[in-house]
Amino acid sequence: MKKPQIDFSDLPRHIAIIMDGNGRWAKKYFMKREAGHRAGAQALRRLVEQMNEAGFKILTVFAFSTENWKRDEGEVAYLMGLIHEYIQQYIDDAHKNNVRMRAIGDLNALEPSLQAKIADLTEMTKDKDGLLLNIAINYGGRDEILRAARALARHVADGKINPASIDELVFTNHLDTGKLPDPDLIIRTSGEMRLSNFLLWQAAYSEFHATDTLWPDFKINHLYEAVAQFQKRERRFGGRL
Ligand code: FPP
Repeated sequence: MKKPQIDFSDLPRHIAIIMDGNGRWAKKYFMKREAGHRAGAQALRRLVEQMNEAGFKILTVFAFSTENWKRDEGEVAYLMGLIHEYIQQYIDDAHKNNVRMRAIGDLNALEPSLQAKIADLTEMTKDKDGLLLNIAINYGGRDEILRAARALARHVADGKINPASIDELVFTNHLDTGKLPDPDLIIRTSGEMRLSNFLLWQAAYSEFHATDTLWPDFKINHLYEAVAQFQKRERRFGGRL
């Protein structure tokens, strides 16, 4: 693919990706689903490096959803192991890397050792000034909204907050994404046109880009193509220009 022309002085601030199609990719090459997930993790590593070099600021990726626990036990264990391995590698490379890492989702349900690794990596990279890679693990948009609502209800019950003062900003700040700007662009690979419970609140005005490319085949030029199309769109945020 030829490198699509994009305006590097006006990149979308926050890009989110639903990395779909690992299983189909594996099938296409007569491999096990696990091999597809491993190739997917490699595709992510490569993309993060290149996005960081190109000056992108925030990338949120959907690594494991609250619904993915329904997959068979072996696949769940493999995905969790892969995420663990991936995070460990960033810990090992943290000294020579300027990528900042965080995770969103209900992390309490993860294995304590994985929770500890995520906490370590977040702490180790918190002052880095490169790309912020935000990994969604055991994440569901509805679950995130419910957890925020419960937290606010507790504050109300404790008399710490007046219900009338709960506005969009207060609510947003109680989501896992906290003070991060909403995604400008959400990309989904492998031809599906669904949001699948990803960033439901934050996606209110995001531009959506779907590509038939399967996630393990997704390269920086596919991202540039999505950005090129995004840069041609007119965003109105509900108003009229
Ligand atoms: C969808 O493919 C992908 C996932 C459920 C997991 C995404 C995970 C990765 C890209 C690798 C691991 C991530 C990290 C951060 C190390 P699918 O299995 O639904 O594919 P299919 O729809 O073709 O079956």
